[in-house]
Formats: sequence, structure tokens, C-alpha cells
Amino acid sequence: MPSMAQGGLRNFTENPNQLNRKFPNPEAKVDPFSRKQKIAQHRKSLPIASVEKRLVDEVRKNDTLIIVGETGSGKTTQLPQFLFNAGFCRDGRTIGITQPRRVAAVTVAKRVAEECDVQLGQRVGYSIRFDDTTSGSTRIKYMTDGLLLREALLDPYLSKYSVIIVDEAHERTVHTDVLLGLLKNVQKARSKTSNDRLNIENKRTNDRTLLDKDNEDQAMSFLKQCQGSKFPPLKLVIMSASLDARGFSEYFGGAKAVHIQGRQFPVDIFYTHYAEPDYLDAALITIFQIHLEEGPGDILVFLTGQEEIESVERLIKERLQQLPEGRQNLLTALIFSALPSEKQMRVFAPAPTGFRKVILATNIAETSVTIPGIKYVVDPGFVKARSYDPLKGMESLIIVPTSKSQALQRSGRAGREGPGKCFRLYPEGEFEKLEDSTKPEIKRCNLSNVILQLKALGVDDILGFDFMEKPSRASIVKSLEQLYLLGALTDECKLSNPVGHQMARLPLDPIYAKALILASQFNCLEEMLITVAMLSVESIFFTPREKLEEARTATKCFSSPDGDHLTMINVYRASNEFLEKKTVGLSKEKSEKILRKWCKDNFINSRSLRHARDIHGQIQGHVEQMGLCVASCGDDMLQFRRCLAASFFINAALKQPEGTFRALASGQVVQIHPSSVLFQAKPECIIFNELVQTNHKYIRNITRIDYLWLSELAPQYYCMQN
Ligand code: CDP
Ligand code: MG
Repeated sequence: MPSMAQGGLRNFTENPNQLNRKFPNPEAKVDPFSRKQKIAQHRKSLPIASVEKRLVDEVRKNDTLIIVGETGSGKTTQLPQFLFNAGFCRDGRTIGITQPRRVAAVTVAKRVAEECDVQLGQRVGYSIRFDDTTSGSTRIKYMTDGLLLREALLDPYLSKYSVIIVDEAHERTVHTDVLLGLLKNVQKARSKTSNDRLNIENKRTNDRTLLDKDNEDQAMSFLKQCQGSKFPPLKLVIMSASLDARGFSEYFGGAKAVHIQGRQFPVDIFYTHYAEPDYLDAALITIFQIHLEEGPGDILVFLTGQEEIESVERLIKERLQQLPEGRQNLLTALIFSALPSEKQMRVFAPAPTGFRKVILATNIAETSVTIPGIKYVVDPGFVKARSYDPLKGMESLIIVPTSKSQALQRSGRAGREGPGKCFRLYPEGEFEKLEDSTKPEIKRCNLSNVILQLKALGVDDILGFDFMEKPSRASIVKSLEQLYLLGALTDECKLSNPVGHQMARLPLDPIYAKALILASQFNCLEEMLITVAMLSVESIFFTPREKLEEARTATKCFSSPDGDHLTMINVYRASNEFLEKKTVGLSKEKSEKILRKWCKDNFINSRSLRHARDIHGQIQGHVEQMGLCVASCGDDMLQFRRCLAASFFINAALKQPEGTFRALASGQVVQIHPSSVLFQAKPECIIFNELVQTNHKYIRNITRIDYLWLSELAPQYYCMQN
């Protein structure tokens, strides 16, 4: 077996040509008629097409159906269309399809709208947090699993849906797991509504004596609760890519499972001889070896996040310049969750003739999104995952090895259209050591968010909730405790009024929701809105390794000696000022172009900034609706820092003599991330927002505070502790 990632590419002549060759815009169709024909042909050729009738029959016959099928067989794009055509929306209700990932919801909805030849937002639409394209006429609605959970807060019977398809259930995100439990209840309640209605009506007319008074009263009160609605039973379809139908079937009382036969061509797997010290570098070398030595076909590379993807993209572009002109025919396409939605479709566009496409993706491309044309997969073997320590109450993002089943899914991507090759950037022996499958997220994340939502849905007994896999008692208790400390729960563990209810209404982590509520009392909601929006995106600065000094100088004008939160506010405000000054009277496109240039000059990640501006607008809408007062503290940044301390007191840390920090809540020793403006200064006491574990335990997004503020502003925690 060849050792793929050994050695480097050297001795290439320099020829800085053709750098910025762009993909054709996929939406600028040359010949719409032939595109339509192609799409129709493609649909017919999908494995799922031959079982349309059977699937529709099974959904009719079974209230809950489990569908397992190879990735790319057409489950996500086709099944909702089959059901729509079979009349499942005839009564004006909608087919809802949940996805764990925003990108999948968006790209699939766009694709299906095109397949149906309708405008996005008409019959087919998507709705994700901070971006809703649906309308009153939407009947096929793609959304994230988290969004459907939120909808349940407003409509506990999910009455507008006739069918709910929980897609990618094998991913077992915490939202999917909670949703499954909730849907089970909704389904029971809805079939009960229709059955009870029937029974009671029958009994009333047929034999009044059979119904004793108490029972009748009880039943009638239940019906009244349902407010005279006529909910038909809710159909549930659970779809999954891997073969774990049994677990889902058992959970749904022995629900029927059907399998869709996929097509899979053989994929040759290659391993490295030795462990790779730097998997990004190894990935880069492998990409170029494939490009230079292998036949035609696109390359899919699995990376762990936006930062890695963007840095590999830059390096590819640089190294391409060193290739002879004839070999520079390689184009990059990116896909990760924070990518603006209009850019996401670019990965599906074929590369121009004579070019090879290399797609840099997060594990989004593992099963959620199927990209045509892939023949080579480069798999460094890592994924970014949430991890939670209930004892310390700390959640962190860590880069961990994939599971075996993830590695298999990844290599499978190379064999969809013909034989392919997968290059795993680790030795073969390592594969055997991988976990079989990934642990469900509910077992490794902070549960405060979902507990807050369950409470708002009226589920008070969290320990007794019918989870498919119960989170540990310790982690439930810790999350309840955190919610209590944030003021969301009363002493009786009920949702507090108004704070708990307000927090549940905001589509944010409880700690951020509380920060906004507090900020309105501290008269600095304007600053906190910016902060929360900027904290919701991946890093706002980009610092290319080779231009480190230049970047540092450029970003200095934004940095605040008080920390990263104020620095972010400075960036946001500077972008506002720039827009106000320079883009008066310009079209939206022109303004965006000018803003992108400004970002580039200032080493700011324009994608992240745009995303943050978008989120800002949306959260502002929410807080205004809630009647919170959006005021600014002006130059009184002390006030704002006090508000940060009052909000993020759970994440306070104290400097240790040797320059590291000790997190007060968990006792963990942590270090300030080099990207923080406080990396050098190291103040005595700080609050932080994020813990990232690589070789070190790094904290990010940090502000200096006064130690004494903690007991003053968070006595519920710090007085109790001392
Ligand atoms: O859900 P499943 O993995 O079974 O398949 P799917 O997502 O429905 O994809 C079916 C086919 O549609 C695949 O061949 C995809 O490549 C194609 N597709 C596409 O060309 N463009 C999209 N935006 C989405 C899917
Ligand atoms: Mg799918």
C-alpha cells in the first residue's frame, strides 16, 4: 500500500497565473430546458425512485415508519415529494423534514424547489434559526431539528403538520433525541384527540349510561384543552443512513423498518505508514498527490471547522501557484455551516471542463449533504465534537478521532458514481482502535438549553422524560443547577416568571439569553446584542500564518485593553461607521463588495462578520418584541464589563502565579488562547465564553473583570461557594 502523505511537493517552477479562476454560477443556467431534463433523469435514476409506491403505502399503513438507506439514495430530496404527490398535504397541512444541520436544510430545500420547478418559499421552503423562507403556501418544509423543537413551544400539537420526517436520525444530535421523545407524546396526544373525540361522540349518542359522569367530565376537559381542533393523527418517519434501525424501532414500540437498497462501488482504502504530526499539512500533500498522479474525479476533504477549511483553501491557492501552468487546473469549493447560504450551492456546481474540484467540508458532507462527482476522499480522521463534564459543569469543543462508522461513511462518499479511493491519514492499526459509533450528543453536552425548552413545554419531570437514551442523572442535575443559578428556575424547579419564560423564548443558549435580559437592566443591551451576535459566529479575525505581523498591526486599532468582547464591539461599530460613510446610495451588492474589501484590508473574516450582522438583526427583533429596552451605555464600559461579569459569572477564572488561570467553577487549569487580546496582558480576574481543548485547555473570548464584582453581582453563586 502506498504511503500517501509522506514527503512534500518540491521543485516546482513558480508561475503565479490563473489564481482566481471562479466556478460558473450554478444558478446562471445556460439552458433551463436541458437542466430540467437532466434533473428529471437524475431523479428517475435514484435508488429510491423504484420503491416510491411501496414507501407511500408503508407511510399510509404505519403511523411510525423507519427508513434506512444508503447516503445518496434519494431519501431526503425525494420522500417528501412522493408524500406530497400522494396527497398527504391535501388538508392544507405540511410535511416537515428535520435536519441536524442548517446547511443540509438550506441546500436540500433549494434543490427540491428546483426539482419541483417552484420558487423557494412557495411549495418548498426552509426555516432555520435566523433565516425563514417559508410562506403560507409552503407544504414541504425543511428545517433544523432545533427549530421544530422551538415551534412546539408555540404549537404543542404541531398541528400544522400531517407528516414529520426526522432525517439523519443516526446523527443523534441532542435536538433529535429530545424531538423523538416529544414527537412520541405529540403523536399519542393527536391520535388520542381523534380517537377520544370519536369514542366520546359515539358513546354519547349510543349509550349515555355507559359513560359515568366523572369519566365524561375528564374526557370533555381533555377535549376542551385541545380547543376544538380536529387534529388528524401525526405520521412520523424516521430516516437514517446507518443500519441501526433496531434501536429506533424498539423506541417506537416495534415500529416497522424498511431498507432502501443503495448503490455502492468499491472504494480502495489507503492508510499512511506512520501517524501524521500535522494532519492539515498531510491533507494538503495528499490533495496535490491526487491531483498530480490520479485520473479525473473530484476530491472531498473532511476537516473539522471553518478555520481549518479557510486556512487549507489559502494554502492550496498558494501552492497551486508553484505548479506548472498546465497543472493549475484545480478549484476549491467550501462547505461548512456558517457559509452564507447563497454560497453553499456552489459545491454542487460541476467544475469547468478540464478542471478538478476539491471540496473542503466539515462532517456535513459525511451523510447530510451528498455532492456529486466525488471520486477521491481525504480523511484526516478527526471531527470537532462537544464534550461535557457534568462534575465540573464545563462544556467544551474538542477535536477527536472519528468513529469507525464515520470513517466508513466518509470513505463511502468516494464510491457513489464509480469505483473510488479513500486516503485515511492515519496508520491502519489506528482504525481498529476507533470507537464503533459516535456517542449520542445528549450524553456529552450541557443540557440546560433543552431542559429549559422542555420546562417551557410543560415537561416538569425531566428525569422521568422518555429519552431514547437517558442522559446521566449527574448531567441533568448539573444543568438544572445552572438554570437555577441563572434565575430561570424557581426553588421548586419550575420555570420562573418572567425571566425563565423570557429566556425560553430567545433562540439562544440560556447563558446568552440571560445576558441580554440582564443587559437591559444594566442599560447596555445595545452592546450585549453585538456581543452575543459576534459570539455566535466562528472567529471574526483571520490571521494567515504567513502574514501574522501584518494582521496584528491591522487589527490593533480595534483591540481593547479590557478584552475580546469590547474588541468585537469595536469591530462591529467600525463596520457600521464604514458602511454609513462609504456606501450611501449604493446597491446592496456594491455595498457588500466594498465591505468585503474593508474586511480584507483589516484582516476581518467577512463571512463571519456578515453572519454576525444578520444574527444581530434577528435577535434585536426578538428582544424588541419582548419589550426589553435597547439602550447603550455609551462610553461607560465599566458598566458593560459589570454586566458581562453578572452574566458569565459561571465562567470566571483567576490568574495563577505561573501565568495560567484557574476556572473558579470547575477548578480546571486553563490558558488564554493566543488569539485573545489579553494573551499577553494576563489580568488577575477574567470571565470567558468558550473552552477549547486541543493539546492545551484554551479559553477564548475573555474580558477582564474585578474579582469583587463576582460576590456583588452573583451572590447566589459566590456567597454560597465561600
Ligand atoms: O438523503 P439521501 O442521502 O438518501 O439522498 P439525497 O440527499 O436525497 O440526494 C439524492 C441525490 O440528489 C444525490 O445524488 C445528490 O447528489 C443529489 N443532490 C444534488 O444534486 N444537489 C443537492 N443540492 C442535493 C442533492
Ligand atoms: Mg439525506
